[in-house]
Amino acid sequence: MKTKFTRLFLCTALGLLLGTGALRAQDTDPSVEAKVEDLIKKMTLEEKIGMIHANSSFTSAGVPRLGIPEMVTSDGPHGVRPEHGRDWTLDNKGNDSSTYLPVGITLASTWNPELGYAFGSVLGSEANYRGKDVILGPGINIMRTPLNGRNFEYMSEDPYLISKMVVGYIKGVQDQGVSASLKHFMGNNQEIRRDGINVEISERALREIYLPGFKAAVVEGNVNTVMGSYNKFRGEYCTYNDYLVNKILKGEWGFKGLVMSDWGAIHSTKEALLGGADLEMGTDLSMLPNPDYNKFFFADPALRMVKNGEIKESVIDDKVRRILRVMFKTHMFDKRKPGSYATREHFDVAKKVAEEGIVLLQNKKNVLPFNRSNLKTIAVIGANANRENAMGGGSSQIRPPYEVTPLQGLQKLAGTGIGVHFEQGYAIAKDAKADPALIERAVQAAKAADVAVIVGGWTHGYDYSKWSDNAYDTEGYDKPDMKMPFGQDELITAVAKANPNTVVVLYGGGPIDMTAWVNKVKGIIQAGYPGIEGGTALAEILFGDVNPSGKLTVTFPKTLGDSPAHKLGEYPGDSINVRYNEDIFVGYRYFDTYKVAPQFAFGHGLSYTSFEYGKPAVTVNNGQVRVTMSIRNKGNRAGAEVVQLYVKDKKAAVKRPEKELKAFSKVMLQPGESKSVSFDLNKDAFSYFDDKQMQWVQEPGDFELLIGSSSRDIRAKDKVTL
Ligand code: BGC
Repeated sequence: MKTKFTRLFLCTALGLLLGTGALRAQDTDPSVEAKVEDLIKKMTLEEKIGMIHANSSFTSAGVPRLGIPEMVTSDGPHGVRPEHGRDWTLDNKGNDSSTYLPVGITLASTWNPELGYAFGSVLGSEANYRGKDVILGPGINIMRTPLNGRNFEYMSEDPYLISKMVVGYIKGVQDQGVSASLKHFMGNNQEIRRDGINVEISERALREIYLPGFKAAVVEGNVNTVMGSYNKFRGEYCTYNDYLVNKILKGEWGFKGLVMSDWGAIHSTKEALLGGADLEMGTDLSMLPNPDYNKFFFADPALRMVKNGEIKESVIDDKVRRILRVMFKTHMFDKRKPGSYATREHFDVAKKVAEEGIVLLQNKKNVLPFNRSNLKTIAVIGANANRENAMGGGSSQIRPPYEVTPLQGLQKLAGTGIGVHFEQGYAIAKDAKADPALIERAVQAAKAADVAVIVGGWTHGYDYSKWSDNAYDTEGYDKPDMKMPFGQDELITAVAKANPNTVVVLYGGGPIDMTAWVNKVKGIIQAGYPGIEGGTALAEILFGDVNPSGKLTVTFPKTLGDSPAHKLGEYPGDSINVRYNEDIFVGYRYFDTYKVAPQFAFGHGLSYTSFEYGKPAVTVNNGQVRVTMSIRNKGNRAGAEVVQLYVKDKKAAVKRPEKELKAFSKVMLQPGESKSVSFDLNKDAFSYFDDKQMQWVQEPGDFELLIGSSSRDIRAKDKVTL
């Protein structure tokens, strides 16, 4: 197994090396361009129109006469979705299970771009095997509020971290011969009224916070397709927002691929054709029985407009050109290398991501890892301990061949010598409150055990029609508040009183209010949704077979009211607008600048060993700054540390955040081992976006370089004058 993984890892490293390269705009291949133009010349207007809208729930038409195949898309960002027929009903026939990879927030919590590539390779390979041309992920919207129902699918509150993780993911997918679809471009930071809410974001916040992840995915990741979001930005729908799509994405960033709508995000013909959307998907009428796809905005109405001269045929040609380009890039005219599907090797990648993505938040008196030789009984408490998550959450649902729950993982790793006693503790149901009978049983189990592990947190809804009933991490809805649902505060408080060695494991897509019990329990783990082998990875961490190395990608505020979108900005806005008044002060940029203590800081995550940071050395060469320092594992266990470098502008013409992440490196160290880490910082690391000059500006002066283990745990400092 080790050799298999090593092989995969080498491929990964090679893929990143070969793929990432220097920053460059998307290239086109002259021989492909010639073939594309040739095909366009041979096509009738009707055939062209046929290609720019859906012809079933997840496909768009080709031109059989010219050998152009249908294009097949599928969700989603952490695994290939179960098969739909041509309509919306699940097929439920054949083997359509796939590897359930950990969700976006868990992947990003690894802070390991090489795992981003490995993850993408699994997804791409399985999409390929299942006959998909485009996989509808990654989702990279900024986590602006803890309440967003889709935070679990997304990566972070920090644009730099997203940029680093997304590039590997996309290259991983696309190196398998299929296309990724980057979503949701842009400003889809809440699910409430996502269909039409207008987001108002300043130019500076747009450039510094909301766009960099998308830009990196296009310019460095060379993503082939982009999905526009449902919402509006500055009054125009994002999918055909002239400024976002024509000027920035296709203009400034040189994007050569296709822009598809989110499902049902197109609401007009002329505006959408001219605003830059290339492919109309999922328009509501496709939900009707026997839908007539010719009624789509980009079907008959578009045809009529070209015929009557309202729209130039060249506008349609450009969309077809982009679609054909993607088809050539994804080997739809030649043979793709074969993909593979639900293999042990793929499950191992999922496991590795979970092992590195699960975050140890608190470990008082070294309650963890559990010592097998001292344990006779473990009480495992909580409905999430034996709940499967893969089919939850909405369009990102997956039907895996199996899913190791936390309870199964613990039972397996405990072996025969340790008793594992399970109690449900709380019920997942609409408006469920604390249930005294369930709590009492849990308390008794905790009393009788050496340690208590409560597995709770958020949960997914499984069923579209019931999403609003019980779902907390789901598409289409936001969480009602940040408090723990289903009476879990009461449960945890009671169990912690019954057993001093209580560890809380939180499933879910980000922050939850722990104020009721955070000081009453010894251990806290944030697990996200860790995928098919999540229960195994969690148990390995609890027993110390794996040393945790994940770090938070989002600040955990103490209470919802501390969160900047709620304190300074608007959420969820009125029925028409949501104004991002917190501006660039998203996540730790707010907490650190405004001196608000978080519950757990961005970048935080503990290990079972400890690390010593050396003194940084800084050199400047032609404006390029290189920071080098040593890092040493001073404990007696191997472990990995994510060394984070933040930049602070000492004096600026505009208000800048207290610090901003500009580099990081995950370093694996044996006991006692030291390594040297280097960070290269270019102009981007010191610049802000000046919305008067409409450009990035690096002001001369002093900058502090803050190196640490989280945004709030700075271990070494230096400064540079530029
Ligand atoms: C979601 C997308 C998804 C699409 C297709 C939409 O509702 O927002 O993320 O890819 O449906 O299922």
